[in-house]
Amino acid sequence: MQTDSPFNRLETASAATVTIEIDGQPFTAREGDSVAAALLAAGAIPSRTTPVSASPRAPYCMMGVCFECLVEVDGLANVQGCMVQVSEGMRVRRQNGARALTQGDVHEAV
Ligand code: FES
Repeated sequence: MQTDSPFNRLETASAATVTIEIDGQPFTAREGDSVAAALLAAGAIPSRTTPVSASPRAPYCMMGVCFECLVEVDGLANVQGCMVQVSEGMRVRRQNGARALTQGDVHEAV
């Protein structure tokens, strides 16, 4: 996934890259980028929609405060994309509406 993005990168000494998947499409991200930064660089906006009104959202604060960057990372839902660095082969899915429950969410009644 390489799309036009309104975001421009600063030139840095390190330009090492990793390949991640965003909604099943390959994308070359910079090593050390957060998932949220990679989504913005890929033009993957909105990065999620809200569960109740399906309102579009995108990473905003980039420091773990607003929760607008929630995505699924390697099958784990509701991950704050701004708090996780990309890694080779990482699978990122944008969340649309309410997330699905997984087996790990189900607890046995005691
Ligand atoms: S962008 Fe605000 S918590 Fe991630």
